[in-house]
Amino acid sequence: MDDLTRVLLGLFVLCLLINPAFQQTQIVPLSSRIERVALLQLRSSLGLRTKEWPIKADPCSVWVGIQCQNGSVVGINISGFRRTRVGSRNPRFAVDALPLFASLLSFNASRFSLPGSIPDWFGQRLRSLQILDLRSCSIVGAIPASFGNMTNLSQLYLADNDITGIVPDSVGQLSSLSILDLSKNGLTGVIPPSFGSLGNLTLLDMSVNYLSGTIPPAIGALSKLEILNLSSNSLSSSIPSQLGDLSSLVVLDLSSNSFSGSVAPDFRVLRNLQKMVFGRNQLSGSLPGNLFASLTQLQSLVLSHNDFIGEIPTILWTMPSLVFLDASGNNFTGSLPNVSSIPSANSAIFNLSQNMLYGGLTIVIRRFSFIDLSDNYLQGKVPDYARSNASLTRNCLQAQFSQRAAAPCASFYGERGLTFDNFGLRNDTQAPPSKPHKKSHKKLIILAAVIGGVGIIALVIIMLVLFIVCTRKGTATSQRGTVVDSVPTGASPPPPGASLNFSSLGEGFTYQQILQATSNFSDADLIKHGHSGDLFRGILEGGIPVVIKKVDLNSVKKEAFMQELDVFSKVSHTRLVPLLGHCLDNENEKYLIYKYMPNGDLSSSLYRKTRSEDDSLQSLDWITRLKIATGAAEALSYLHHECSPPLVHRDVQASSILLDDKFEVRLGSLGEICAQEGETSQSRITRLLRLPQSSEQGASGTPAATCAYDVYCFGKVLLELVTGKLGMSASSDGTMKEWLEGTLPYISIYDKELVTNIIDPSLIVDEDLLEEVWAMAIVARSCLNPKPARRPLMRYILKALENPLKVVREESTGSARLRTTSSRGSWNAAVFGSWRSSSDVAAVPAAATSNKLEGASSFKHSKHSGTSGSQGSGQNNGGDHSSSNRRQQSRDIFPEPLNEEDLERQHE
Ligand SMILES: *[C@@H]1O[C@H](CO)[C@@H](O)[C@H](O)[C@H]1NC(C)=O
Ligand SMILES: *[C@@H]1O[C@H](CO)[C@@H](O)[C@H](O)[C@H]1NC(C)=O
Ligand SMILES: *[C@@H]1O[C@H](CO)[C@@H](O)[C@H](O)[C@H]1NC(C)=O
Ligand SMILES: *[C@@H]1O[C@H](CO)[C@@H](O)[C@H](O)[C@H]1NC(C)=O
Ligand SMILES: *[C@@H]1O[C@H](CO)[C@@H](O)[C@H](O)[C@H]1NC(C)=O
Ligand SMILES: *[C@@H]1O[C@H](CO)[C@@H](O)[C@H](O)[C@H]1NC(C)=O
Ligand SMILES: *[C@@H]1O[C@H](CO)[C@@H](O)[C@H](O)[C@H]1NC(C)=O
Ligand SMILES: *[C@@H]1O[C@H](CO)[C@@H](O)[C@H](O)[C@H]1NC(C)=O
Repeated sequence: MDDLTRVLLGLFVLCLLINPAFQQTQIVPLSSRIERVALLQLRSSLGLRTKEWPIKADPCSVWVGIQCQNGSVVGINISGFRRTRVGSRNPRFAVDALPLFASLLSFNASRFSLPGSIPDWFGQRLRSLQILDLRSCSIVGAIPASFGNMTNLSQLYLADNDITGIVPDSVGQLSSLSILDLSKNGLTGVIPPSFGSLGNLTLLDMSVNYLSGTIPPAIGALSKLEILNLSSNSLSSSIPSQLGDLSSLVVLDLSSNSFSGSVAPDFRVLRNLQKMVFGRNQLSGSLPGNLFASLTQLQSLVLSHNDFIGEIPTILWTMPSLVFLDASGNNFTGSLPNVSSIPSANSAIFNLSQNMLYGGLTIVIRRFSFIDLSDNYLQGKVPDYARSNASLTRNCLQAQFSQRAAAPCASFYGERGLTFDNFGLRNDTQAPPSKPHKKSHKKLIILAAVIGGVGIIALVIIMLVLFIVCTRKGTATSQRGTVVDSVPTGASPPPPGASLNFSSLGEGFTYQQILQATSNFSDADLIKHGHSGDLFRGILEGGIPVVIKKVDLNSVKKEAFMQELDVFSKVSHTRLVPLLGHCLDNENEKYLIYKYMPNGDLSSSLYRKTRSEDDSLQSLDWITRLKIATGAAEALSYLHHECSPPLVHRDVQASSILLDDKFEVRLGSLGEICAQEGETSQSRITRLLRLPQSSEQGASGTPAATCAYDVYCFGKVLLELVTGKLGMSASSDGTMKEWLEGTLPYISIYDKELVTNIIDPSLIVDEDLLEEVWAMAIVARSCLNPKPARRPLMRYILKALENPLKVVREESTGSARLRTTSSRGSWNAAVFGSWRSSSDVAAVPAAATSNKLEGASSFKHSKHSGTSGSQGSGQNNGGDHSSSNRRQQSRDIFPEPLNEEDLERQHE
């Protein structure tokens, strides 16, 4: 019984396989003998496989891609087929059998390689063809003129081949053609004017070729044309106005050619146009507003990288359908419209960068999901609504990162007779950029003379003082014969004086004004006694709150003051505390007037008393902390990498990081800044003599003048932000060491959870934020590498803080890979290069994790026993095999005097 069933079932299946007609009874088998022979011939000349075209089966019902009607072949579709091994040995454009199919309507060989040229007879002998698709077939040679004989052809695709030569005129005879796609070839010559008679054409794509000449005006007669793409050719002269007659046009792409002249066509009838792309040509002139008046369907408009001038037509700001406009890289000018009735669509994206827009930001910005206004000349304050959806770099905006310098802004506005707000600073001291009015002419000359005179006298004084200071310091340094002094003479910033630029030192105030502003320096207005001078709160005339530093040259180092003046005269950056003015009238008391920072400095605002009655402390949230870290890194990165010679801040600590009303960082305490130590002869001598040298302090007790020193201090600030342990960055060496000893072991690139042991308990962080905290901790630890040469550069630290998740995600998942194939020069490698060498123990993840608790307890132990020496921790519970690991770990983590070997390596 069983066997019989099986046999019957087998027979049934066999039946199905042998006779496909069993399945598809409705298909009439191939009836013509000629066509059968022709198919076999095609099969062998193209090298097709039995898999698709099995010899013994009926082509109409079984062969893939064969379409029959009433027993004869009407469609052949070998698109994407693979050839047999023999067939692929010598692939050619061998389709000689095609004309034998009397009723063939369509031939589709796209993505089937036919290296060779289309035979000349092709068009003549395949006149009945309606669809020909030869896209991506590796065809070479020219389009035969005989194509003009295929008068029934409605779709012709020859795109993405290597077809060369000119487009034959005869193609214009294909009156049934609705799709003509010749894109991505090597076609040369002109667009045949005969194309004007392709009255059924809906798509004409000749993009990415080498066509030259102009667009034949006759094209304008193609009333059914919906898509015209001629981009990326060498077409030139002006765009014919006849294109304005293409009433069915939906897409018009003429980008990346050499079209010139103005956009003259009257677009009034282009009511269906949705996309217009004119980018990268040499179009010029201004755009008349009425050009776009009837393009109510327009969604996308690209005018970028032309030479357009004049204003952006107001209508473009208000067209409800327009969701994408790229007008970048032109000479558009004018100001942003103050459009208050915002169209409903607010998801628009505009790119207006690299133009000459000026004036203030307006509420029109709210319309956009993103607007790029970078590289213009916009000025004024940045309203809140423009903070998230607008790119505003390289403008003339107030209190904004990465803006143009004052000079180009002033001259731009000056040349146009416009008023420049000078970044919101008082501008009395600046020479008027534009031609002054006749009335005030005399006054201004006198004013200028007075300012000039005072300036010259001040310059001479400053030069003298600096000269004295410099020579004195030079001798002092060489007398001491020690290594690191604050400012090596050779490497200090070029002597100021000649280049001391008073316009960047803000306004000059009189002593009377200063007294008035501070109520005669009343104690109530004293903020603190700083090491470079006493800081007072003050109110200028007009109610502007400021901070005034009183520098008593009898008690404060003169050079610090001069240095600060010099820094302000040379560098300007939105991340540095703005200097509003100065008063140098008195001989021994100098005053610097800074912008008032509503949120004080980091050390005072990490925790704030809440307004509620319970007096509890509210701490800065994590987002703000990360923003502060990034801001400070930007400031330091500017000093280290964008100033020449590189400037070292030397006083990086929480109290130097000032915060404005939006908690944007303005780095202060600039009195210690000096140029990075060069390879002075002294340091070379030290190396030769192998004098002992602490890594952070010069022998004289002043901070080292190296960027690496700033990085170290910044590491402490980062750690403060993570742990909330305020004041550590300002503390003495001993306390510091102990603190680091207790903190660093909890920072591991292999164990995120470990960091929760040291996180500021007042921080509320979820899983995502925890990764950022972890990342910052890792960066901090890299900065605290005891070996200065191994600390990451500030610019890499900045990158890491800007992409905190990259730090941990890439590193923790691919640490093994990174160790072997770290890409040199990437910021990631820079941060972790230092990491790897600073934490050898971490290279053994298992050991690190299993020891983490022990490590922690051993630390506590050492703290209780009062040993601050880093080597003690391991010995306290020595004996087990892991102690050497820990010893290594602590040795590498804590800063300690380098031994001779290290010193050598450091200078390699
Ligand atoms: C043949 O053409 C049709 C579209 O006309 C397509 O969907 C199909 O994938 C093509 N290829 C084959 C092998 O049938
Ligand atoms: C189908 O072919 C048969 C003979 O081959 C012919 O008689 C018939 O008219 C054809 N039908 C159509 C619709 O072409
Ligand atoms: C040819 O075949 C491909 C897929 O195999 C298909 O995408 C394409 O639309 C076909 N061409 C025509 C004109 O139908
Ligand atoms: C073109 O099509 C028409 C109608 O569809 C037909 O009568 C004519 O024979 C075709 N021409 C050729 C050359 O096949
Ligand atoms: C076919 O094309 C060739 C080349 O363009 C032309 O000389 C010939 O007259 C055409 N034949 C017909 C019947 O249109
Ligand atoms: C459009 O094609 C049809 C045949 O499909 C033809 O009869 C007609 O003349 C063509 N129209 C134009 C304007 O060429
Ligand atoms: C565009 O502006 C630049 C810079 O002002 C100028 O050099 C260039 O000639 C201007 N081009 C046109 C077409 O006005
Ligand atoms: C700059 O100074 C001029 C003359 O004192 C004044 O008219 C102008 O308003 C000032 N500009 C700004 C933005 O304050």
